[in-house]
Amino acid sequence: MTNKITLLPGDGIGPEVISAAVKVANFIAEKFNISFDYQEKLIGGCSYEKFGVPLTEDTLQSCYDSDAVLLGAVGGYQWENLEHHLKPEAALLKLRKSLGLFTNIRPAKVYSAFINSSSLKPKVLAGTDFVVFRELTGGIYFGEPRGYNDKRGWNTMEYSYEEIERIVVKAFETARKRRKSVTSVDKANVLEVSQFWRKVVAEVAKNYSDVELKHMYVDNAAMQIVREPSQFDVIVTGNLFGDIISDIAGMITGSLGMLPSASLGNRYALYEPVHGSAPDIAGKGIANPIAAIASAAMMFDHSFGMTKAAEIIEAGIEKTLSEGYRTKDIAGEDDKIVSTERMTEIILENIETVFNEQALGVFTL
Ligand code: NAD
Ligand code: IPM
Ligand code: MN
Repeated sequence: MTNKITLLPGDGIGPEVISAAVKVANFIAEKFNISFDYQEKLIGGCSYEKFGVPLTEDTLQSCYDSDAVLLGAVGGYQWENLEHHLKPEAALLKLRKSLGLFTNIRPAKVYSAFINSSSLKPKVLAGTDFVVFRELTGGIYFGEPRGYNDKRGWNTMEYSYEEIERIVVKAFETARKRRKSVTSVDKANVLEVSQFWRKVVAEVAKNYSDVELKHMYVDNAAMQIVREPSQFDVIVTGNLFGDIISDIAGMITGSLGMLPSASLGNRYALYEPVHGSAPDIAGKGIANPIAAIASAAMMFDHSFGMTKAAEIIEAGIEKTLSEGYRTKDIAGEDDKIVSTERMTEIILENIETVFNEQALGVFTL
């Protein structure tokens, strides 16, 4: 079986972490007897530099023609003042919209080996395992009118019934397979769009009487995530709130460099770390590759139905962390600090060990 994958390394640390994810994907493909046909394309600032636009038709077409897209990150200081539609970030938004990727899944999982290294206390982290369902193709990111002039700036936060319903259904379906709890996050005490969101969520919930539903205001949710993260199972929210909430969730896992994501629609799928292009550390070889590698794991799970492969990758990451290896962003005093490349090598070795133990029946996931 050959699967087409479009690689979009992008800007900053994007190429560094995507190269790590590809090494892992290739290793798994070989072990599981599948093959990948990669198309590597430009997106973001690097595309703007070469073609004058951050997303070309050629890049978009390659994504349409692929079974999955693996993206690094876009953006950088040098492109911050470009016109809105030429900014690297505009390319990512256009790509998500064009591919219809309305469900963005961002799992906040605490690696047990890491529980003493997080900036939160171990007793706060104990039992934390939640997933954020962020609506990705609507809300204030895309609402019209939008713009600014010399005197004012404006955007529109808007959701249709269908846009809310389809992401909320995904969240409830997932909750059913987990701990059967959905927290819908909004700002219904102030925003009409959130009042409408709440109404739709409540209607969808009627079909899931086995799942508990809580509504929570976004400001309280931000606080609760660092106060008692274990209370959450599935969080579902709109585009802007989901963006913010998922960066907070990134710190729960220890660093933004650890948090993967899957963006899914009815037809296409894109996998990318939650973090950005980290221009402050780009080119130094110190970026944490775990978010990108874990994003590849999500690709095996969601796009190729290879749950076992995903679990082996996760176990390889966990083993590496338990041996004390850390990139700089997650290192404590007694940890072994390693480069992006070395971290990737060790993760690969550990994936191989886990794979072999699995084959011998020693290790059970
Ligand atoms: P960022 O996520 O790039 O970086 C925030 C901080 O986290 C930085 O200190 C960075 O060094 C650190 N960090 C992030 N990823 C890391 C990793 N893998 N390993 C180690 N440290 C890591 O966010 P920012 O600084 O606000 O944004 C930088 C640029 O990235 C901007 O242009 C922004 O628009 C863009 N951005 C892109 C995406 C994306 O492509 N999906 C996501 C977020 C931000
Ligand atoms: C993310 C990023 C993007 C977003 C930016 C770069 C457009 O922050 O994927 O979380 O806001 O969605
Ligand atoms: Mn973000």
